[in-house]
Amino acid sequence: MPARVVLGVGAGIAAYKACEVLRRLTEAGHAVRVVPTPDALRFVGEATWAALSGQPATTAVWDDVQDVPHVRLAQRADLILVAPATADLLSRAAAGRADDLLTSILLMARCPVVYAPAMHTEMWQHPATRANVASLRARGALVLEPASGRLTGPDSGPGRLSEPDEIAAVAVRVLARGVTALFPDLAGRRVVVSAGGTREELDPVRFLGNWSSGRQGYALATAAVARGAEVTVVAANVSMPDPAGVRVMPVISAADMKSAVLSAAKGADAVVMAAAVADFRPAARSEVKIKKSAGAEPPVLRLAENPDVLRALVHQRDPGQVLVGFAAETNDVLAHGRAKLAAKGCDLLVVNQVGRGMAFGTQDNEAMVLGDDGTVTSVPRGPKEVLADVVWDLVAQRWPGPRAGRSDVDPR
Ligand code: CTP
Repeated sequence: MPARVVLGVGAGIAAYKACEVLRRLTEAGHAVRVVPTPDALRFVGEATWAALSGQPATTAVWDDVQDVPHVRLAQRADLILVAPATADLLSRAAAGRADDLLTSILLMARCPVVYAPAMHTEMWQHPATRANVASLRARGALVLEPASGRLTGPDSGPGRLSEPDEIAAVAVRVLARGVTALFPDLAGRRVVVSAGGTREELDPVRFLGNWSSGRQGYALATAAVARGAEVTVVAANVSMPDPAGVRVMPVISAADMKSAVLSAAKGADAVVMAAAVADFRPAARSEVKIKKSAGAEPPVLRLAENPDVLRALVHQRDPGQVLVGFAAETNDVLAHGRAKLAAKGCDLLVVNQVGRGMAFGTQDNEAMVLGDDGTVTSVPRGPKEVLADVVWDLVAQRWPGPRAGRSDVDPR
């Protein structure tokens, strides 16, 4: 459904990337009013914002005074997204300052607020910024973890603005949740999601792999970020950009996946194994490329069984930790799913049918979520994000009690 979004732009070099965020939101049909801070206009000018949004960019409290713009824009907004959120902007918002139009709107706002920070690593890690972020989060705002990578100049580290498409994807999820997004219900929770498909090396140039794209795992990660969780993704050979606000641990094989997932799972509230983990690997990996020789029989491939990551998680689980498996089945989906849930010992199993163009690499999914208590939740064919929200709803129901400090406060 089209929504009214205020896109606040802070005075950082990443302001140019906010143009892409704006494009994605307008392409999705949302009406976006851009509110740059006065200094942000040094990076990207008013004309660019006006042309891309199709609406005047409102920059000063003193423009259109008769309309009281900070009140009008804030009251009408379904979402305020600040990208890039600089250290200064986070500080002013945390302190409740109202010294320009954007901070005045933030103080007026009664809708969900999302900050996508961008700054140098030292600023992001400074105790002052940590305190400001904690204070904003405690009031219900969603402050995304920045990406790690190249910063302005030769430096690199955490502090880079997340990919514009991925920031827009979080904003879209927040909008889809409507008023429930006012209280990020997974705030204070730490979750781990595995995604993609493992590759098992045969020789330096070949591997055994599978068709998993990682889309469902990434949709789970984005949905959890949009609900306030701290998310780690263990990504096996995923070629999509990192979701905004998550820590990504790249892996290749099932063995890598096992060690990364088991270490990330320590102290986590939930682990969702959406990855397609290869059951078998070549029994021996050739150090050199396997050659064919004229007239000789083709080599016979011997396989060895891989460790089962989900079973290992079940063995080492922390009290209260919820474990979710995925099962891709080609036939007798419900019967295989029930048997697998019992065999694996996890709390929930998401069962979907694969093959013939279904599930792998597609935008949509259709599934049944089986609970260890015998419940079956059917999720009709729809975007993977919708299935992701159903999974998190069912996970949240299994947690013993609410995490302190988030849902009982007035948002922002
Ligand atoms: N899984 C795992 N480690 C493995 C294989 C699978 O952790 N070595 C996890 C998957 O991530 C998924 C669940 O187990 O969450 C079920 O995966 P699936 O491949 O459907 O089940 P298998 O146990 O491999 O059973 P089969 O392939 O025989 O159907």
